[in-house]
Amino acid sequence: MPGKRSAAPHEPQITAEQREALLHGAKAALVRSYAPYSKFSVGAAMLSEAGTFYYGCNVENASYGLTNCAERTAIFSAVAAEGDRMRIRAIAVWSNPEVPCSPCGACRQVIFEFGPNAIVLFQGQNGVQELRASELLPSGFVF
Ligand code: THU
Repeated sequence: MPGKRSAAPHEPQITAEQREALLHGAKAALVRSYAPYSKFSVGAAMLSEAGTFYYGCNVENASYGLTNCAERTAIFSAVAAEGDRMRIRAIAVWSNPEVPCSPCGACRQVIFEFGPNAIVLFQGQNGVQELRASELLPSGFVF
């Protein structure tokens, strides 16, 4: 189609079914959240390039700074399962209360590490928003 930008090979795509599964999975995962301090439950669902879904929730601690976000829980589970070649195709995040909730700065850097062009789905100001990791974190750190 003239004018329609075709996807570059390094830009992962997802199907409508995978998108729904990610959003549904993030909502389902947040029920396992451990958030006695903030009372803000967050769930994440991730699809690896290998085609497997992983899930995570936020896990808080009495020493607040030790809290692990839902996104990083899911990503670390994926690495633990697939090893150091794990790459992120897409990741979704959802919260209860259901308010706009985009990945925090730390999670953006961790998503960027495993998928600079990964699709990131989250609740924005006007419904579900979809951005690439590199759009959420321009000039992410590379070692
Ligand atoms: N949180 C996440 O799990 N992911 C985010 O992207 C934003 C924040 C969690 C951390 C903490 O347990 C709670 O939300 C409040 O900050």
